[in-house]
Amino acid sequence: MKHLLKLEDWTSEEIIEALNLADQLKYEQKHGIEHKILAGKTLGMIFEKASTRTRVSFEVGMTQLGGYPLFLSSNDLQIGRGEPVQDTARVLSRFIDGIMIRTFEQKEVEDLAEYGSIPIINGLTDYCHPCQVLADLMTIREVKGKLEGLKMCFIGDGNNMMNSLIVGALRTGMSISVACPEGYEPPKHIIEFAESFGDKFEMVRKPLEAAKNADVVLTDVWASMGQEEEQKIRAAAFEGYQVNDELMAVTNEGAMVLHCLPAHRGEEITAEVFEAHADEIFEEAENRLHAQKAVLVKCFTS
Ligand code: CP
Ligand code: NVA
Repeated sequence: MKHLLKLEDWTSEEIIEALNLADQLKYEQKHGIEHKILAGKTLGMIFEKASTRTRVSFEVGMTQLGGYPLFLSSNDLQIGRGEPVQDTARVLSRFIDGIMIRTFEQKEVEDLAEYGSIPIINGLTDYCHPCQVLADLMTIREVKGKLEGLKMCFIGDGNNMMNSLIVGALRTGMSISVACPEGYEPPKHIIEFAESFGDKFEMVRKPLEAAKNADVVLTDVWASMGQEEEQKIRAAAFEGYQVNDELMAVTNEGAMVLHCLPAHRGEEITAEVFEAHADEIFEEAENRLHAQKAVLVKCFTS
């Protein structure tokens, strides 16, 4: 049994193994080769925030693997009325074989793992988004043929996406430059983790500096789920932190653009850059399915 609580918990080898398995499952699915590796297994999917991609890709992925996905909205669970996560973990462990959870606090995910006895998969917290980043790495490797030696840049908020991308990029041999406004940097321990990779990590203020010679450009919304009331303040703080033609002009020839979605055109990315890279961005969205199936197989069968 294995968890995916945050990407830091997986070694470089485990990440690469998951990407290899994701490639294989994608090939099999495209060629009509059945892979009902999780027949008879049930995945509980707890959502305390909205979702399109994560919900649908886990639900479809579990079905393709021969298992049963059980959607559990926190509005309907007793957890939404205050039943402790420690008790929910112990109860669900007796009914189902694994849990995917999307919630606010990372501690809730860690508590489920501590008190339950089944695999726990993080489907996004305020702190990180490991499933998304595995799909991002898979997409980069598909398009560029490698990860090692490439430069990633992330423009914007030091949020769940930036945190997981820093870990994912550095653990797979990429370098990463991030540009964020003052007060919106990633947490200190993520910066310390990144600095242990020497000059493979750089944090700057100017987006153009981070984007220089980048092979892959990433960004994300300025206000994440749960920060809706900060939208105005954030829009002011992030002015200029936009992926646009001027920024793309300093990147390497053939640079990719990825976005976890949903995207806010005219804010963190222009409609022009988004549409010019739509094929990559929607391949990235599709790869959520394949990468997560790999995570499910690894977590349920190891
Ligand atoms: N990127 C992502 O996680 O999308 P959803 O919020 O739609 O699941
Ligand atoms: N940072 C965004 C990611 C959405 C997939 C959020 O947390 O809302």
